[in-house]
Amino acid sequence: MKKNRQLAQDELLNLLKTLVETPGPSGSESTIRATVLANIKDFADEIQTDALGNLIARKGTRKEGGKRVMVSAHMDEIGLMITHVDDNGFARFLPIGGINALTCLGGRVLFMNGTRGVIGVERLEGTNIPTLDKLFIDTGATSREDSKIGVGDVCGFERPFLDLGQRLVAKSMDNRVSAAVAIAALHALPENPNEVYFVFSVQEEVGIRGAITAAYGVDPEIGMALDVTRTGDTPKSAKMEVSLGKGPAIKVRDSSFIADPRIVEWMIREAKAQNIPYQMEVLEAGGTDGRAMQLTRAGVPTGCLSLGCRYIHSPSEMIDRSDLVNAIALLVGLLSKPIILD
Ligand code: CO
Ligand code: ZN
Repeated sequence: MKKNRQLAQDELLNLLKTLVETPGPSGSESTIRATVLANIKDFADEIQTDALGNLIARKGTRKEGGKRVMVSAHMDEIGLMITHVDDNGFARFLPIGGINALTCLGGRVLFMNGTRGVIGVERLEGTNIPTLDKLFIDTGATSREDSKIGVGDVCGFERPFLDLGQRLVAKSMDNRVSAAVAIAALHALPENPNEVYFVFSVQEEVGIRGAITAAYGVDPEIGMALDVTRTGDTPKSAKMEVSLGKGPAIKVRDSSFIADPRIVEWMIREAKAQNIPYQMEVLEAGGTDGRAMQLTRAGVPTGCLSLGCRYIHSPSEMIDRSDLVNAIALLVGLLSKPIILD
């Protein structure tokens, strides 16, 4: 098995900054895939990219008492796709994934071809909340001919990584923070009986698509999704029993799947054994790659390790530094021993 080493705190933050500042909306993951690959190639035993573009890295081989485990963190992010450029160079768009018009206003975008732009809005009547069809992207073009973007071009939000000390903010913490957890765990994983496939999946934000083919290809005995989840700890937020800083969350259910109770128990046992703070997560609406793994082939016992995240799907998603560190420790603990489910 390839070498292992733990990432230092500053290495981890630098990795996260690199990941969140790399653009990669669903279907346009080649840049972020190259970034992830550069950060895992020296620590994985085998790496492949499947037909959909999922990056699949194996660490370890299955030995007596071990299991084949798939850990899946989607590497795509929400974005916008151009549908039309008018005579004056203003571009209209469709959302890629769950985009809220309110969080678009005043935003800046970066296209995969390097073009930048800002999001403007038509004059609104009264206090109407805008819908996406009232918004447009202004790339500074003065005409349709002058526009550096056209129909089908894709952009993501552009915001620099922000270190607020205990809390960290970026445009695509969903789900680059989980990609950082997976990369750090892949680095740190010691010799053990399990065969672990770290999958950096594509097209999650448009309906958990990449994980479907990755799960079929890997054919795991155990599935573990890594993703962010909502919190209930901001002023007048919806009731939700997850807060920033109280530890990684162990998912019980979301609207895409119900975690296998044996996996939930296994995760709780490991957190307790390591004295890692944890929270139980019941998410009203939302889904993860866990659905694809659980329902692949004849079915796979699957769970999800979540990180609490405020302002999900806005250009400023916030997570807690200690939750990040604890999630890595919990995941490494889970993967580095024989897995017994009961
Ligand atoms: Co998302
Ligand atoms: Zn996500």
